[in-house]
Amino acid sequence: MQRDIEEVLVSRETISEMVRTLGKRISEDYEGQELVLIGVLKGGFVFLADLMREITIPVDMDLISVSSYGAQTRSSGVVRIIKDIDITITNKHVLIVEDIVDTGLTLKHLKELLSTRGPASIKVAAAFDKPSRRKVEIEAEYKGIVIPDKFVIGYGLDYAGKYRNLPDLCTLSPKVYSKA
Ligand code: IMP
Repeated sequence: MQRDIEEVLVSRETISEMVRTLGKRISEDYEGQELVLIGVLKGGFVFLADLMREITIPVDMDLISVSSYGAQTRSSGVVRIIKDIDITITNKHVLIVEDIVDTGLTLKHLKELLSTRGPASIKVAAAFDKPSRRKVEIEAEYKGIVIPDKFVIGYGLDYAGKYRNLPDLCTLSPKVYSKA
């Protein structure tokens, strides 16, 4: 697996530091409130697992899985729920936990969708951000690390289903793409 890496873009140490900082901010901001973390599968689960352990207030958590409505309509950002959350979020403070904000389309639609269920508030925590790729105006309130417009793998992010288990955020060697 290491041979498929081109470069380490963000080290595991830098990621840990970022997660600690975000966890502290979230704990302070939501003190005394009922907070629900909703991790977006599959990519968001690594960040969710780390982030929730840096949060020092009681939280509830759940997972959601979405996919876009096929390649043709991807630009519309319309997403389909593959696995919904089991818990009720009405009157609760919701924090969506995402791996990366790229075009922002998935997140925008997911936020709209969850808003219809009457949460007290709805915000976003994203481990990484590629602002140069944005197609819709959306910003994570808790933003981790801004990265350049490069395809990245590791820390939950995949290429063709693989490399999610890399602890660092890396770029993929071009020889892997050319084999595809
Ligand atoms: P968006 O809707 O374009 O903002 O991106 C939605 C999803 O695409 C993210 O949650 C990621 O799972 C995936 N994605 C975006 N950029 C990358 C990348 O560089 N590597 C791997 N997955 C990515």
